[in-house]
Amino acid sequence: MASTGKTYIVEHLDPELGTWSELEYLAVARESQDAGARFCLSSLPQTFQVPEALKNIPAFTAETRSVEELYARDKSRVCLLDPAAASDLAPEDGDKFDAFLFGGILGDDPPRDRTSELRKKGFEGRRLGPVQMTTDTAVRVTRLVVEGKTPLKEVSYLDHPELKFNEHESTQMPFRYVKGDDGKPIMPGVSVTSSNLGHQTHWA
Ligand SMILES: C[S@@+](CC[C@H](N)C(=O)[O-])C[C@H]1O[C@@H](n2cnc3c(N)ncnc32)[C@H](O)[C@@H]1O
Repeated sequence: MASTGKTYIVEHLDPELGTWSELEYLAVARESQDAGARFCLSSLPQTFQVPEALKNIPAFTAETRSVEELYARDKSRVCLLDPAAASDLAPEDGDKFDAFLFGGILGDDPPRDRTSELRKKGFEGRRLGPVQMTTDTAVRVTRLVVEGKTPLKEVSYLDHPELKFNEHESTQMPFRYVKGDDGKPIMPGVSVTSSNLGHQTHWA
């Protein structure tokens, strides 16, 4: 597929790479590959062991340098996806920015605003609406807006889906997800079936 020219950068802010983050990054890498875009995981510690599955995806690059070093000369072409930004991402931002920067942080409830670590670096920020998304969802939505030219409000979302593990145990995921073609939230590594998908608090 022809390159979209877009780069999605996730600045890795957690000390280790947990299984869940690895699944999220793998989803971003595969979707970037399919879209002809690039995915860069930056600020990795020197000792970081890049998982084989990621290494095998040509769109993926592992970087020990931070995003400021990588974009020292083109800071204005980088957009930080920031839940506290004053304006929402719009399709026109695809013309303004070449690279989209995300915090490599697992979501938390309530959010602890760890994206503030990236905000300090001075990149222009855009919000993806008022609800916290997982990192892979944030990249997916950004791609739909800047590459697919879909306005943020027209993306189909599922908020706070409840996953049932068995008859007695379930958990409500405190995040917003993109609704897949099958009507279920897109969640890496989780097989969401009608039997384990419970009540959704909101269908957009
Ligand atoms: C799981 S979120 C981390 C949120 C974290 N709890 C915090 O408070 O910063 C991971 C990344 O996805 C992006 N993100 C998630 N939801 C967003 C939203 N509603 N608007 C803009 N960016 C968002 C941000 O880049 C964020 O650093």
